[in-house]
Amino acid sequence: MDNINYDDGSYGPVLLRLAWHAAGTYNKSDSTGGSNGSTMRHSPESGHGANAGLKTARELLEKVKAKHPKISYADLWSLAGVVAVQEMNGPTLKWRPGRSDLPAEKCTPDGRLPDASKGNDHLRSIFGRMGFNDVEIVALSGAHSLGRCHTDRSGFSGPWTRAPTTFSNEYFKLLLSEKWVEKKWNGPKQFVDAKTGELMMLPTDLALLSDPIFKKQVETYANDGAAFSKDFAAACVKLFELGVKFPEGAKTYEFKRL
Ligand code: HEM
Repeated sequence: MDNINYDDGSYGPVLLRLAWHAAGTYNKSDSTGGSNGSTMRHSPESGHGANAGLKTARELLEKVKAKHPKISYADLWSLAGVVAVQEMNGPTLKWRPGRSDLPAEKCTPDGRLPDASKGNDHLRSIFGRMGFNDVEIVALSGAHSLGRCHTDRSGFSGPWTRAPTTFSNEYFKLLLSEKWVEKKWNGPKQFVDAKTGELMMLPTDLALLSDPIFKKQVETYANDGAAFSKDFAAACVKLFELGVKFPEGAKTYEFKRL
């Protein structure tokens, strides 16, 4: 695949975002949504605002699906997320196949994914609905060490770090070390680093500093990259398995780096 002319030279971040948005619709109280089903292939879910731009990732994976038609889209998307994290220098993620593809009737309602303009209560309610606790919310937020915001997708703009294709705890370090000021522009409210204005934080990213429990965890991960990597791996595997009923004795895979 030709990575060179896309964004920062890698499809990794947008592939991870696809796997996350497919899984993050999970509702533990009625077991709807989640990593099973790949319902984002269908309208209306494909058109939900939060999923803007993910067509790029879905279309890219069509090439793999054409070569390996037996794999379900749901397995393929989660597997792409695993490979993306690993190939961007992230932790090894255990992966199990067993997801199936469901029809458009199973599309989840709009509004299940987090809204970047909101605060901590929203994060706790959205991630709590998926079954995640405070530590897991902070660990998963560290995925924003990767990738960038696009004005033609979310409306926000810019990368969180200076190495957006390398998994690291840089997001947490920058959250604490930089002075974040509101960006002066015609777009949605976001923050930029006061020194250069080149890096960004969403309102939900900065919200992590305004809550003592979240902030303590941000400090832990800023000081201990290995702890972040380990907790991220566990939370990410849990995310990619939300709502999946694996067959008894399903084999777990660990993939070598390419
Ligand atoms: C905490 C709540 C979260 C909010 C409000 C949020 C919001 C956003 C927004 C607005 C973008 C920019 C999209 C664009 O314009 O292209 C983005 C990008 C991204 N998000 Fe999140 N996100 C959250 C959590 C997560 C989680 C849990 C993960 C993965 C585990 C994740 C992974 C990513 C990645 C990798 C990108 C970059 C995509 C690219 O470069 O194309 N995010 N997120």
